[in-house]
Amino acid sequence: MVRADKVTEERIKKLREEIHYHNYRYYILDSPVISDAEYDRLMRELIELEEKYPYLITSDSPTQRVGAAPLEKFGTVRHTLPMLSLENAFGEAEARDFDQRIKRFLRMDGLIDYVAEPKMDGLAIEIVYEDGVLGAASTRGDGVTGEDVTQNVRTIKSIPLRLQRGESIPRRLEARGEVFLSLKAFKELNQQRIRDGEPPFANPRNAAAGSLRQLDPKVTAGRPLDFFGYGVGMVEGRSFTSQWEILTALPQWGIKVNSLIRCYKGIEACIDYFRELEGRRRDLDYEIDGMVIKVDSLALQDRLGVKARSPRWAVAYKFPANQSSTRILDIQVQVGRTGTLTPVAIMEPVNIGGAEVSRATLHNQDEIARKDIRIGDTVLVQRAGEVIPEVVKSIPEERTGKEKEFVMTERCPVCGARVVQLPDEVAVRCPNTSCPAQVRESITHFASKGGMDIEGLGEKIVAQLVDSGIIKDEADLYYLTQEQILALERFAARSTENILVAIDKSKQTSLPRFLYALGIRYVGEKTAQILAEKFGSLEAIEKAFMEQLMEIDEIGPQVAASVTTFFAEKKNQDVIRRLLAAGVIPTPPISLGLRPLAGHSFVFTGGLESFSRDEAKNKVKELGGIVSSSASRKTNYVVAGKDPGSKLARARELGVTILTEEEFKRLIGA
Ligand code: IVH
Repeated sequence: MVRADKVTEERIKKLREEIHYHNYRYYILDSPVISDAEYDRLMRELIELEEKYPYLITSDSPTQRVGAAPLEKFGTVRHTLPMLSLENAFGEAEARDFDQRIKRFLRMDGLIDYVAEPKMDGLAIEIVYEDGVLGAASTRGDGVTGEDVTQNVRTIKSIPLRLQRGESIPRRLEARGEVFLSLKAFKELNQQRIRDGEPPFANPRNAAAGSLRQLDPKVTAGRPLDFFGYGVGMVEGRSFTSQWEILTALPQWGIKVNSLIRCYKGIEACIDYFRELEGRRRDLDYEIDGMVIKVDSLALQDRLGVKARSPRWAVAYKFPANQSSTRILDIQVQVGRTGTLTPVAIMEPVNIGGAEVSRATLHNQDEIARKDIRIGDTVLVQRAGEVIPEVVKSIPEERTGKEKEFVMTERCPVCGARVVQLPDEVAVRCPNTSCPAQVRESITHFASKGGMDIEGLGEKIVAQLVDSGIIKDEADLYYLTQEQILALERFAARSTENILVAIDKSKQTSLPRFLYALGIRYVGEKTAQILAEKFGSLEAIEKAFMEQLMEIDEIGPQVAASVTTFFAEKKNQDVIRRLLAAGVIPTPPISLGLRPLAGHSFVFTGGLESFSRDEAKNKVKELGGIVSSSASRKTNYVVAGKDPGSKLARARELGVTILTEEEFKRLIGA
């Protein structure tokens, strides 16, 4: 092992402190004092030093946010003090009731000091700092025990790995607060998921919860989760007298607190602030669903105590929900790209939170049965944030008896084919791959931005082309003539030329785009990228067996089956053949992202502790590297274990990089 000298060790310490400080300026105070480039330079220097002296890496180093390997399942954590929930109050009268109850209980009159905080719509977590270093983090769970989400919480940039020393650091600090996703991040995440063929999250809270409960911290790291602290659990080595004091101490340690918290005398001031907050709600980049009112004095909190699972000293004063009722005029059935039949509620237009809503997906027939939704029903509809409207439930009391139950059609509403239901699916599907609806949807998908990206070829024009019978599949696009397009309604010489040029331009494409464009079930953009990188060519993917596909970590039996079935189908083979014949060239990716050791050769000498020699060799090969038995000038690394042989001396002579077992493990990400 190469040891660092004192000066270098000090430098590493200094860099860490500086970077922690700049993270704090950037993420917590939102007022950076150095440029991004300068920050990057510090970070790079630290990474380089840590790579050189890996034994000096500490868990609270700013480079160590994502490091852990995926888990099998989450462990559990018992909270030192239970994490309570809150009772709700709707409307001013219930807010005043809360205030009255407190005064009665305490036998006090006069104004109570309250803290008013936005009620974040995310999920509660507890993070524990010991001597200022982030240790365990857990979800609320049932309030007594939660799940250990430490590795995921470490990836949240606004949660410090180490506390700032603005105020003396308590020996143990259990900080509590809400993890959430900004509306911007939520929208981007959902767009990405739709492009990848994954179901979008219903709202930012589900997205935040889903992101935090990932077994692989790398996935969580890709989701820009955020955090606001709002309280503490047990604290050793520091005492507080009020909630306000807690809320002012947290940011000094580097734990972010919502800037919209206020301290007021009496309930009326809180109610005024509630109205103000309601007005400001739409300008916020995160969702809040009300205001939490807390008695400020911790001594009074103590006297008030807890009943059942919620404290007497706090209440969740909720905004009226973003819901409204309307009537379902009809339930229509839409046919998707893969033939899935989706029932859609057509409703009397209603305004919810400033947007007019007249359609909402009902997902499938089971969902309709579960919610007991009938045509003609009055239903409760909700729209959270920018989210797709959703039918929450029917209101049976409003029924007149004329409502009709929805029956899923036995025939496809577009082509009339008898629908099928696969044994493990709720949805029914139109099995006719030549169904005009499926053809239209497939070709639209083929031409879409993430696919072949044919500019100007949207849903409407595709429908015109398909309905007039000029094209029957994706390949036909590349054999279109000027006359054929000109004959369509609303097409002139200019627009015809534009379409033809765009189609021609799309011939130069990448293999991942091409694969995605084919519309293979379960193959979204991400999977297409992985397939292209792993197999390197279209032919290799076409010929791949289930087993080969499933050797790839990210690919399970469902995706593998879908890919092999797709390429086994004569019709698909024919479309691909004609696409290639027309001059479509899917270029394989050059990225070696998944074969990070490609082009690197390794020699092993001496015994390893964590692997057998064969395991280590396989690992290198899996990652694209080469293993040789003896070192030469072409060797990149010699991995030296216990009692290395003469190969080590030879490596030294040749000036080859020598790795310890630890360094090797780091290199392969073990
Ligand atoms: S205090 C005993 N403060 O609301 C106090 N909770 O229904 C318990 N929440 O699980 C929590 N913003 O997820 C508190 N400023 C805030 C909050 C807040 C959101 C959530 C939290 C909690 C739930 C309680």
